[in-house]
Amino acid sequence: MAKVLPTSSSLFIITISFLIFFVILPVTGENNGFIKTVDRKTFGFKKEKLSHFCIYWHDIVSGRSPTSVSVTQPSINSSTGFGVMNMIDNPLTEGPELSSKLVGRAQGFYASASQQEIGLIMAMNFAFIEGKYNGSTITVLGRNSVFNKVREMPVIGGSGLFRFARGYVQARTHTFDINTGDATVKYDCYVMHY
Ligand SMILES: *[C@@H]1O[C@H](CO)[C@@H](O)[C@H](O)[C@H]1NC(C)=O
Ligand SMILES: *[C@@H]1O[C@H](CO)[C@@H](O)[C@H](O)[C@H]1NC(C)=O
Repeated sequence: MAKVLPTSSSLFIITISFLIFFVILPVTGENNGFIKTVDRKTFGFKKEKLSHFCIYWHDIVSGRSPTSVSVTQPSINSSTGFGVMNMIDNPLTEGPELSSKLVGRAQGFYASASQQEIGLIMAMNFAFIEGKYNGSTITVLGRNSVFNKVREMPVIGGSGLFRFARGYVQARTHTFDINTGDATVKYDCYVMHY
């Protein structure tokens, strides 16, 4: 009797080991050649949160140091400016005044992508310089019908503290100077990230 017990318990351990090895392991640690599943917690991605921030985007096309410059001359001049494209390095500030605190820059481009109305495609990175967000970015890619009161564009990704970012921005024109073409646009950003 005394000999039977250890044998059955070691059989039990072997059975459990086999179960762990062949049943549980492939489920938790999927490994297909060069692609591995990893535990997100070990990378510091614990709880996804929703951040909201409001910033002002300054499109400066006039004056001696514009931050938004035209880079293409379309082969056809259409009433909607179809094909016109601006490369931007626009200041992002905390308040509506250009002199208010600089929190980052919007770098990228926008281009007229509609022949029926004024409709832009915006492709830009918001590169932040403020506090702990210094060096982090979010990427906005979307459609901007500039004469609509509210224009919504997706946030398609991010870097640094905004890794895995997804969300949307709502753009509202704050001021537009018809004479110079300069514009200040309020951006409400809603971003899910870790
Ligand atoms: C379009 O307009 C611009 C400026 O008004 C002009 O310089 C250019 O030659 C025009 N292009 C065509 C194809 O008509
Ligand atoms: C942001 O980071 C850069 C590079 O690390 C540094 O030179 C700069 O002073 C920082 N800016 C702010 C506002 O902290």
